[in-house]
Amino acid sequence: MVGPMKVLYVASEVAPYSKSGGLGDVAHALPRALSARGHEVRVVTPLYASARIPNAEDSGRSIRLRFPFGEQRAVLRVARSAPRHEVWFLDHPGFYGRSGIYGDASGEYGDNHRRFAFLAVGALAAAQAMHFAPDVVHLNDWQTGLAALALARGFRGTSLGEARSLFTIHNLAYQGLFPKAVMTDLGLPWDVFNEHGLEFYDQVNFMKAGLAFADALSTVSPTYAQEIQTEAYGCMLEGTLRARAHELHGILNGIDVHEWDPRADPHLPAPYDGDDLSGKAICKAELRHRLGLPQPEVLSDAPLFGVVTRLAAQKGISLLLAALPVLLDSGAEAVVLGSGDGWYEDALRALAAARPDRFRAFIGFDPALSHLVEGGSDFFLMPSLYEPCGLNQMYSLRYGTVPVVRATGGLEDTVRDADLPDGTGFKFSHFNPSGLLWAGGRALEWWWQRRDALDAMRRRGMRQDWSWESSAQAYERLYASLAD
Ligand code: ADP
Ligand code: GLC
Repeated sequence: MVGPMKVLYVASEVAPYSKSGGLGDVAHALPRALSARGHEVRVVTPLYASARIPNAEDSGRSIRLRFPFGEQRAVLRVARSAPRHEVWFLDHPGFYGRSGIYGDASGEYGDNHRRFAFLAVGALAAAQAMHFAPDVVHLNDWQTGLAALALARGFRGTSLGEARSLFTIHNLAYQGLFPKAVMTDLGLPWDVFNEHGLEFYDQVNFMKAGLAFADALSTVSPTYAQEIQTEAYGCMLEGTLRARAHELHGILNGIDVHEWDPRADPHLPAPYDGDDLSGKAICKAELRHRLGLPQPEVLSDAPLFGVVTRLAAQKGISLLLAALPVLLDSGAEAVVLGSGDGWYEDALRALAAARPDRFRAFIGFDPALSHLVEGGSDFFLMPSLYEPCGLNQMYSLRYGTVPVVRATGGLEDTVRDADLPDGTGFKFSHFNPSGLLWAGGRALEWWWQRRDALDAMRRRGMRQDWSWESSAQAYERLYASLAD
């Protein structure tokens, strides 16, 4: 057991206040798990207009940062989540008081370089204003990358002078790329505008600030940690990552087992667990009812495939669009809950219009419905092109909803193929519709011909432990190794 440490955790989204994907979940649950283990954790995040903050207080403190484009000030608001776990919000309406987190219907916000430079450096200034001297500053994704540079350059000799930094990659494809004029706009030192620093094909790359200047790097599954060192998955940063391979750690995310618990989920019409799955049949009936699928005389025996996802190329939506009609023709039903790329939204709406008998598309972001899709589906599809970790397959395992996944990143690390002893799901390797159809076809075969074996597999998945405990311990050991 490592002695209590002080951790400053910086993230651009933190559930339940703000969330566009898994980062929000992680930035809530990991600090909570660490604080439960005795560490003092302060999470810094923007106060978005859309944020839900039940009991955030004005701390009476504020921060001021001087940039060439002007002095910027934010008030610090504090929500005390649990003992030793506080969330500090940077309240800067000019930057964050907008409808979206990163952008709106017309695209990414044009001043994101300023908004997230302010978050990154503002988090360090907030620690000073709150008299919190962290042992470790834990940064997440490109929005926080500049904090690693600031810590290495600007904060030596301050109360953060001894702090070590860890930069976690949640998704290497989003790098925070800006024209090089941003160097001047933000007053960044030109001597770091080179291939070993922030420069990336003559642009500024905020992710590279984290990769180059943090004391250690991590990503959210062991397999993704290996994959991103290859050309296929490295997003042209594989060389940078390979150069620091010995400092790059792959630590699998956990899930919030309180929020995602089929025995006590307020979004489900009936509880269930691995010993008694009868509640799951009620969830399926409720989901089918919500979807408005044709109600059969007796309980439907068609297998129901669920999907909850950002609609982005990463998630293999093109494979879904090609494979779903075939699975529907084979007797399955399916539902997709997702939002994102307009082209995918339209294509899913078109499929729903063409197959009202068996398919529904819910376009939008709806956490409550996502729980019902997990609870009410028989199988869960995740044909990702790449998947740093993925949370939904772990929610699915816990909800007895057998995952059908592409063997990449965290999906490879969390799902064991049905053909192996102790299998928990169906996996495929080749990123094409036939690959997905092969795995989906096996799922259907087990559904119609090997139902007992499928139920045994379902129960096996439900018994697995995906709580944050072991991941929090791995982070704790990594923090301790940095502080030594
Ligand atoms: P990513 O972060 O790449 O989107 P993850 O699987 O790590 O993928 O996390 C996605 C998170 O966002 C999960 O908690 C998932 O349930 C949630 N989510 C994604 N899309 C939606 C949606 N349309 N409605 C509700 N929740 C969603
Ligand atoms: C990213 C990844 C996802 C991961 C999440 C949380 O959004 O796409 O795979 O689970 O971050 O780490």
